[in-house]
Amino acid sequence: MGYLEELLDPTTTACLAEIGVEQGWRCLDLGAGGGSITRWLADRVTPTGTVVAVDLDTSHLAERPGIEVHRHDVNDGLPVDGPFQLIHARLLLLHLPNRAEILQRLVDALAPGGWLLIGEFSDRPRGVLSAPSAADERLYDRVQDIGHNTVAQAVSFTWAHDVHRHLSEAGMMNLHSLSHARTTEGNTTGCLLNLNYVAQLEIQLLDAGITREELARYRDLMLDPRFRAWHYEFVCTWGQKRR
Ligand SMILES: C[S@@+](CC[C@H](N)C(=O)[O-])C[C@H]1O[C@@H](n2cnc3c(N)ncnc32)[C@H](O)[C@@H]1O
Repeated sequence: MGYLEELLDPTTTACLAEIGVEQGWRCLDLGAGGGSITRWLADRVTPTGTVVAVDLDTSHLAERPGIEVHRHDVNDGLPVDGPFQLIHARLLLLHLPNRAEILQRLVDALAPGGWLLIGEFSDRPRGVLSAPSAADERLYDRVQDIGHNTVAQAVSFTWAHDVHRHLSEAGMMNLHSLSHARTTEGNTTGCLLNLNYVAQLEIQLLDAGITREELARYRDLMLDPRFRAWHYEFVCTWGQKRR
């Protein structure tokens, strides 16, 4: 299981359980990634229901009875028509500049009474709680700041808290949001995820002035159990389309 799934699936599936996913539903999992939520949904809606899983990269998504996989860019609309009884999108819209328009398209694709569940990261609360040295703490903050403000400019860390208002303005009912934040320590899932992010952004971080020595120290820190910090807040928002 990937780090994201390990961190987030318990919260996402608790929200889905509260929604009350039923056998026979037609579901859409957008930006399905490794497919853990696609499979969780398929286990509940099949044999009469289906889950349509969509991603730009479908290499980790396997078709099986009740799971339909589409390689597709959601900026071009949905690959299949609605209506859906449930649409789920986790850590997708925060990456997309036209996120508000896509959210409206998802509301439009719901069946009357259908549910939408959106899960996103925000970068609150921030802060190191323990590090081997003050210099390590400053290094962590610098790498995070450059990562968020310079490199990952296209990612919105405020969107997580905007989704509820957008869904309310779209006329959705039974709206709820849940926030989950916890600390992470070196060599556990959250820090290992940070390590992955920094590996993906290495060239950009070097271009932005972080040195190779600092990156090496950051990697050591993410594996050091003396390091502890708040990890990203995960905000889930769900609501139901009027009948
Ligand atoms: C951060 S991952 C999250 C994966 C999964 N939803 C999860 O939370 O475990 C974002 C996913 O969205 C997909 N993605 C990004 N942009 C996309 C687009 N424009 N259309 C379809 N999928 C996209 C990526 O390929 C990736 O699998």
